[in-house]
Amino acid sequence: MFAVYAKEANTDDPLASLVVGERPEPEVPAGWVRVSVKAASLNMHDLWTLRGVGIKQEQFPMILGCDGAGVLDDGTEVVIHSVINDDSWHGDDTLDPKRTLLTEKHQGTFADYVVVPARNVLPKPAGLSFAEASTMGTAWLTAYRMLFVKSGLRPGQTMLVQGASGGVATALVQLGRAAGMRVWVTGRSEDKRALAVELGAHEAFEPGSRLPERVDAVFETVGKATWSHSVKSLKPGGVIVVSGSTSGPDASAELQRVFFLQLRVIGSTMGTRDELANLLSYVELAGIRPRIGDELPFTEAGRGFTNMLKGATAGKIVFAH
Ligand SMILES: NC(=O)c1ccc[n+]([C@@H]2O[C@H](COP(=O)([O-])OP(=O)(O)OC[C@H]3O[C@@H](n4cnc5c(N)ncnc54)[C@H](OP(=O)(O)O)[C@@H]3O)[C@@H](O)[C@H]2O)c1
Repeated sequence: MFAVYAKEANTDDPLASLVVGERPEPEVPAGWVRVSVKAASLNMHDLWTLRGVGIKQEQFPMILGCDGAGVLDDGTEVVIHSVINDDSWHGDDTLDPKRTLLTEKHQGTFADYVVVPARNVLPKPAGLSFAEASTMGTAWLTAYRMLFVKSGLRPGQTMLVQGASGGVATALVQLGRAAGMRVWVTGRSEDKRALAVELGAHEAFEPGSRLPERVDAVFETVGKATWSHSVKSLKPGGVIVVSGSTSGPDASAELQRVFFLQLRVIGSTMGTRDELANLLSYVELAGIRPRIGDELPFTEAGRGFTNMLKGATAGKIVFAH
């Protein structure tokens, strides 16, 4: 079948490992279902996989794509939840020590077909296209958990999103605005800041800017490049929710501020199946349409990867059949 995959790990030149070609059709284990993929979105995780981060050498070649929307063999339209748990696990899906994301152990969604455990598909909201629905399973779910499960933020409070145009960042802006937060954003160019305002941010600032006042919560996926600003932007008792470190993990911890102002730093990863169900319902009830910056045919996946690597994003990059 058609597939976009990583042939091996390449730390320095991840795009050299990307292949748009053919892979064997998957077998369907008992208790799993086959999804005919209609659309899937690109996440930074796919670039990490090409670099060999978070994947064992023996797992290559690996079909990329850790979210998606499509159709089951019986015609049901579904959204994929890509956190795959061990059969014996009960409790928060994301805390299972044996959990994997699609593309870490099991093949991903950038293909004609993907197989997942039956519990890992949820009904696609009728109001979302396949392309829009495909963005829900990773970037949007991550943003949902950061904002509504981890931050403790209440409507009327102020949130700062570091980064304006990325998948998680745009989801945070759209979700936060719809929930009644005051949404502030930093973005690296005027275009990106204008996009954030168009998506609902009340104000967008240059990275590192002094803000009009300190905020209740900061949402971090950038890491090294923004961490110090994140700590300095918080009110006493405020919270940073962090789910990524795109620019590097070795941030100065600003420990004196953390303890003196009694700040909280909370990690967040993906989200549970129930949280994805709640997200899908919320998006439908609030009439939110996730921002897609670029929709490309799967055959042109290389262009999407190149743009993400360059930082040329304007919302989610989506591939469709
Ligand atoms: N833990 C989890 O479950 C989870 C899930 C999803 C994503 N993540 C992580 O979250 C991060 C973002 O993922 P994504 O898929 O949203 O990626 P993306 O779409 O490529 O977005 C990258 C974001 O980083 C921002 N950024 C700001 N300064 C940057 C700098 N100096 N270098 C690079 N980027 C900078 C960009 O802001 P501008 O708009 O200003 O360019 C943009 O908003 C990644 O590290 C990813 O691994 C984690």
